[in-house]
Amino acid sequence: MTRGFPAGFLFGAATAAYQIEGAAHEDGRTDSIWDAFSRIPGTVVNAENGEVACDHYHRYTDDVALMKELGLGTYRFSTSWSRVRPDNGPVNPKGIDFYSRLVDELLSAGIKPWLTLYHWDLPQALEEKGGWVNRDTAELFRDYALSVHDALGDRVGVWTTLNEPWCSAFVGYTAGVHAPGRQSKTDGLAAGHHLLLGHGLAAQALRERDPALELGITLNLTVAKPVDPARPGDVDAARRIDGQLNRFFLDPLFRGSYPADLLDDVAHLGFTELVRDGDLAQISQPLDSFGVNYYNGSLVSDLPTGSAQLSHDPTNRVTSSPFPAADGVFNHPQGLPVTAMDWEVQPDGLRELLVRVGAEYTGPAGTDLYVTENGAAYDDVVATDGAVHDADRTLFLQLHLGAVLDAIDEGVDVKGYFYWSLMDNYEWAWGYQKRFGIVRVDYDTQERLVKDSGRAYAAIIAARSLPA
Ligand code: NOJ
Repeated sequence: MTRGFPAGFLFGAATAAYQIEGAAHEDGRTDSIWDAFSRIPGTVVNAENGEVACDHYHRYTDDVALMKELGLGTYRFSTSWSRVRPDNGPVNPKGIDFYSRLVDELLSAGIKPWLTLYHWDLPQALEEKGGWVNRDTAELFRDYALSVHDALGDRVGVWTTLNEPWCSAFVGYTAGVHAPGRQSKTDGLAAGHHLLLGHGLAAQALRERDPALELGITLNLTVAKPVDPARPGDVDAARRIDGQLNRFFLDPLFRGSYPADLLDDVAHLGFTELVRDGDLAQISQPLDSFGVNYYNGSLVSDLPTGSAQLSHDPTNRVTSSPFPAADGVFNHPQGLPVTAMDWEVQPDGLRELLVRVGAEYTGPAGTDLYVTENGAAYDDVVATDGAVHDADRTLFLQLHLGAVLDAIDEGVDVKGYFYWSLMDNYEWAWGYQKRFGIVRVDYDTQERLVKDSGRAYAAIIAARSLPA
């Protein structure tokens, strides 16, 4: 028995500027925090950077042709602030022209462009003025958003302000595993608030400029459960992870307030002093769409026995956790199959998450719900027949699309799904060794090869249903 997707359900794939574009110093682009961070010895596996990446900047027409071949209905990509406005200075005509050509190419291939304004690559010039810890960055983000809209607003329908602000704030400013590599709890919290504020300012300004646009944000969310539901320490550990990773962002966006329990958790870090009158009203702008990025859930405890480090730190350089509100919380693997990131495969967590977000946040707000990222890295090999037989990734994709259908069966109106990623790319501090693509990239030749999982996805899209 096959399982069909609802009419209008959108199938897509996602990428991000720094991870695929390359041409890092071409046509006027200047450094982002990732260019600067990846130059620091020991920050990225094999000291790799996004200088060339997938050379998408020069190969975008071929890449769009591949998307068309796969039958994608939509493509989620991000614009690079440092390309559009180098050093946050005036608009760079050559930089914005790249995105304009990309959008035209997508439209002529019949693929809906889904644009993310910020996928982690702040101009380094702004980091030198304090980065996201500096409140001014929120206003500068609004201005940058308007610059992109000035050039592309006539052709791009869907606008996402931020991708995974939790990572920007806490992996970047608290754990220091991502750019800019700071290790401070207070900086992470300040960055988190200012990212939300930047979202709110940009959302309002874009809406005023163009009431017809479809506006949203993407968060990485998880399902945190206690190892032992009867142990108060474990239950509280799950509450704290849920508070910091999920509700820190969801509540201000949809309810106009930070969760009280989380404010208690971080009271000693002076968080509330950062939040000015009017900020929460600014942040809680109405949203048309909301994106969930889901990779897996976690089973947590305040006891370390049997726990394992989450693979946030590939270079084993730092020891601080990215959870200022959840120090002393440990993740416990459940013994399930894992991806090459060591992330357990937990498809039912996606169903559970979508049901919760639909019931508690987007449903009441009338906001369309999408899975804007879900995917898996595996240690792919090119077989002697020249193909990549990545049955593990195909299974991952089918299981998670099945979970989306399960959520839909439970009454959640999920409108679409994006696989991460269209092609293998720069996996941040992991460099190029982790491959998430449904298209393989040979980094020596820049050749693209559709993996078996890509063919399987194309078949699902064509049939608009999951095989039995
Ligand atoms: C989330 C991020 O948005 C993306 O940049 C990253 O590559 C994937 N997850 C996989 O880790």
